[in-house]
Amino acid sequence: MIIAIDGPAASGKSTTALGVAQVLGIRYLDTGAMYRAVTLAVIREKVDLSNVKSVDACLSHIELSLKFENSKAHVFLGDEDVTEVIRGIEVTRTVSAVSALPSVRRKMVSLQRKIAWQGDTIVEGRDIGTVVFPNADFKFFIVADYETRGERRLNDIKKMGIDLSTEEIIKDLKRRDKIDSSRMHSPLTKAEDAIEIDTSGMTLEEQIGLIIETVKKGEKGGK
Ligand code: CDP
Ligand code: CDP
Repeated sequence: MIIAIDGPAASGKSTTALGVAQVLGIRYLDTGAMYRAVTLAVIREKVDLSNVKSVDACLSHIELSLKFENSKAHVFLGDEDVTEVIRGIEVTRTVSAVSALPSVRRKMVSLQRKIAWQGDTIVEGRDIGTVVFPNADFKFFIVADYETRGERRLNDIKKMGIDLSTEEIIKDLKRRDKIDSSRMHSPLTKAEDAIEIDTSGMTLEEQIGLIIETVKKGEKGGK
């Protein structure tokens, strides 16, 4: 079984997907973390994003792997566990530019399919229901208003010791939404058969409960 969850940043996808995965006893694949890991490699190697050959050279030698523990995976570049470091501010600012590159997407999509076909998985990202798994058993599109998303992300980054205002965060969310939704390849968009959930006024428990209920009822998505 594949459950696809898409939507913009800070709408609640990751936390909801992990919660669902833990209740159902299946794996949770965070595809954003994969794009973030590639971005970290690109930053460290000072790759020129306008030079396709340098990007491809970087892609061909990075060893990106995921190690699942219970439902959730740790992300590795070679032997290094980069799960925490990929949440940093520089990666967050650069990731949308890196993930707009076709060769990056090709490599990640192929890896995502390989991983998810190994067993029941809830896969979360931007293009999962539209491109990576158009035949997913269930598709959800999670949204929330900017104010809610800004507040949520503010709480998250405060815990990481990063100091930004809600306005700066919302500005970055809007900038990333724009790049993610308008790129040529696999833009962020709701699949026609996905169920939309607006989490603005919802609790995490409600979001998780709604998805589990839908899956248990065996409903396919509706328009
Ligand atoms: O955690 P947050 O919502 O900030 O973002 P993320 O899920 O970690 O994704 C980071 C970035 O990766 C997104 O802004 C997209 O540019 C890119 N991404 C993508 O292009 N396709 C995916 N399937 C997942 C993420
Ligand atoms: O994956 P995505 O970027 O869409 O969002 P997330 O990282 O799962 O959610 C951002 C933050 O919002 C997390 O700290 C969640 O715990 C929090 N949150 C939520 O997702 N839903 C609520 N109803 C309330 C808070």
